[in-house]
Amino acid sequence: MDPTLQTQMKQIAARRALALVKDGMTLGLGTGSTTAFFVQYLGEALQEGRLQDIRGVPTSERTAQHARDLGIPLLSLDDVPYLDLAVDGADEVDPQLNLIKGLGKALLREKLVEVHARALWIIVDESKLVARLGDHVPLPVEIVPFAAGATVRWLNGLPGCRAELWRREDGDPWITDNGHYLARCWFDDGIPDPDALSQTLLAWPGVMEHGLFLNMATGVIVASPAGARVMRRG
Ligand code: A5P
Repeated sequence: MDPTLQTQMKQIAARRALALVKDGMTLGLGTGSTTAFFVQYLGEALQEGRLQDIRGVPTSERTAQHARDLGIPLLSLDDVPYLDLAVDGADEVDPQLNLIKGLGKALLREKLVEVHARALWIIVDESKLVARLGDHVPLPVEIVPFAAGATVRWLNGLPGCRAELWRREDGDPWITDNGHYLARCWFDDGIPDPDALSQTLLAWPGVMEHGLFLNMATGVIVASPAGARVMRRG
């Protein structure tokens, strides 16, 4: 997809999501290039007085800094019993609105924040829609640095899985905001049973969290050159 067009679509989806925000809400603020537009528009709406009394709970240090720069008041998840709404991007969306997230390296905080949201709206351009999760992108998995090689070896033993430690260009492993490493798992034929894979991954001691967001999205705003459309779960 043409990068300029893709950027425009991210902006369209982010603008549409801003219409879901009402005065007084506490919001989960996702991470990634699409959500960055949402955070920008939210900040502008607050500065211009179009929205009031909004607080955000960020899902990464990057988003927290962006929100602070825009003057968006922030809270810790410890300070709020629930979020009215969370808005975030995704790397893949399947027809049931299950997601792969985390290629922005923030999956653990995203999941931890977003399970507290009364509504989770996902904003994507149409290139993120897939028939089966794992069709286009690897599944990111946040792992404990201790014996990371052993955990990656175990991941490689899962049916159909090809895993590697996710490294930066200088060869060092990426380190998440939580001090963990990340593995990326490719599935040549996609992920046939995301629920089963989720359970298998979470039962392994070296795995902290994974990027399968199952039965979490309330809805997805999909931007295409024709405009934005809404998909609702169920
Ligand atoms: C961040 O860790 C991810 O879950 C992002 O939400 C996801 O990677 C989508 O990012 P973009 O909006 O940059 O495509």
